[in-house]
Amino acid sequence: MRFLSLALLSAALVASADAAATAGNIFYGNFVHSVNITNLEYVGKGAIVVDTAGNIIQVERNVTERQISQIGDKHRVSITRLGDQQFIMPGLIDTHIHAPQYVFTGSGMDLQLLNWLNTYTFPREARFNDTRYANDAYNKVVDRLIRGGTTAASYYATIHLDASKILADIVERRGQRAFVGKVNMDRNSPDYYIENTQQSLKDTETFIQYVLGKKNSRVAPIVTPRFVPSCTSDLMRGLAALANKYNVPIQSHLDENLDEIAWVKELHPDQPDYTSVYDAHGLLNNRTIMAHVVYPTDEERKLLKQRGAGISHCPNSNLSLRSGIAKVRQMLTEGQKLSLGTDVSGGYSPSILNSIRNAYFAGIARSFDHPEDKYLQLPEIFYIATLGGADVLGMKEQLGNFVVGKKFDALIINPSTRGSPIDLFDHDKLNTIFEKFINNGDDRNIVEVFVDGKSIHRL
Ligand SMILES: *[C@@H]1O[C@H](CO)[C@@H](O)[C@H](O)[C@H]1NC(C)=O
Ligand SMILES: *[C@@H]1O[C@H](CO)[C@@H](O)[C@H](O)[C@H]1NC(C)=O
Ligand SMILES: *[C@@H]1O[C@H](CO)[C@@H](O)[C@H](O)[C@H]1NC(C)=O
Ligand SMILES: *[C@@H]1O[C@H](CO)[C@@H](O)[C@H](O)[C@H]1NC(C)=O
Ligand SMILES: *[C@@H]1O[C@H](CO)[C@@H](O)[C@H](O)[C@H]1NC(C)=O
Ligand SMILES: [Zn+2]
Repeated sequence: MRFLSLALLSAALVASADAAATAGNIFYGNFVHSVNITNLEYVGKGAIVVDTAGNIIQVERNVTERQISQIGDKHRVSITRLGDQQFIMPGLIDTHIHAPQYVFTGSGMDLQLLNWLNTYTFPREARFNDTRYANDAYNKVVDRLIRGGTTAASYYATIHLDASKILADIVERRGQRAFVGKVNMDRNSPDYYIENTQQSLKDTETFIQYVLGKKNSRVAPIVTPRFVPSCTSDLMRGLAALANKYNVPIQSHLDENLDEIAWVKELHPDQPDYTSVYDAHGLLNNRTIMAHVVYPTDEERKLLKQRGAGISHCPNSNLSLRSGIAKVRQMLTEGQKLSLGTDVSGGYSPSILNSIRNAYFAGIARSFDHPEDKYLQLPEIFYIATLGGADVLGMKEQLGNFVVGKKFDALIINPSTRGSPIDLFDHDKLNTIFEKFINNGDDRNIVEVFVDGKSIHRL
């Protein structure tokens, strides 16, 4: 957007105010966001005007002190002024996280996927039949994510209906934006952590109705078959029918590990590949989020693209569980919908900043043997952590950057808080401050978190 004269600026603001938008907040200072996959925009003296419903109604660059005062007077709201070294950026989006696995994040990294599930994951997830335990754990993980700047997440809960409801309640209470899924598992699972098909479908429908019943635009249910090996064909078909009936998204795992892929081939010899198994059961569409996708064949990538499914790249877990390095450059070049996931706790960190750093290194590691796959650049990685995530959640028109008409889901970053892991020098301009935060910053720099224009965390 070009710089507007004061008169134009005021006229535009009056026009939007007339269109029933009452300003709730004006943010004045630096901001950084993705314009598109190749370009970050660094803006000094920016003004982002947000209405009381949390929509961005005006965005300006290079606004003078005199102009900003007039904007403030016009709307009769106070102006949030950022310090010179502070900046606003879009909230981070985690498209793949297992909320119950937060209880063992950072531990149990000595095994690969299938043994890891049986040894660590299933016993821990089974504990969520206890709602008090679930309440404690889910409060902690949601709080941790918000403090880490994750404004939107797609959560897996466990197979338990009551605990899954608790997770949705907590997300709602805290004001985070999220998809929440009750997990489904009716085969190849331990006796203590398995459902029968009918009960699994019934509980899922009850859960969907419960979350939709909140009529909260920030919290939505998501159909969550764990992965093909733990779901019978009847269950997968039933879940696809529920997703259709209620028009809700779907999430699962795909092509994470070679043993897993071989197992799926054994279970479904009639299907050419893993992706086709989901597709044949009606689970692959433009609202599906598939996590990992480390070993897709050409045909699988073609099918994902054709169906418009989104991919959650989880580089930390890819490395932690030694599953492998995804061909991210290839997926980007092909125009796949790509986002980032922490995969707590296959990934050891609940922070998307950590995923950003791991995505960078995963790309570099792959480029050693595959120089044709150029490793990702900062604008590309930041894009998949924000706008790409929004795209995969089906909210690209609502979230991901600072554009009029979108929701204000944002973070205020202060590089100079007490105990900050970053030091600045007089030669550090906004782009350098931003990079320092992305690579070395953490919760101590995230001084305020907004979802729908509402402050949900303040340091
Ligand atoms: C903002 O001001 C700077 C410095 O005066 C100038 O270089 C830049 O082009 C301006 N940006 C816009 C969008 O007008
Ligand atoms: C990305 O944005 C930049 C700057 O606005 C523009 O020059 C470029 O053409 C855009 N690229 C794409 C792929 O849209
Ligand atoms: C929860 O599951 C565990 C097995 O993991 C079992 O020992 C316990 O009795 C169950 N508790 C309830 C309340 O069902
Ligand atoms: C997603 O698919 C549905 C049903 O096929 C279609 O109506 C809708 O336009 C698609 N949305 C996008 C963004 O492609
Ligand atoms: C995970 O590793 C596999 C095998 O090296 C690789 O193909 C895949 O791209 C990796 N995924 C991510 C997201 O790094
Ligand atoms: Zn996962």
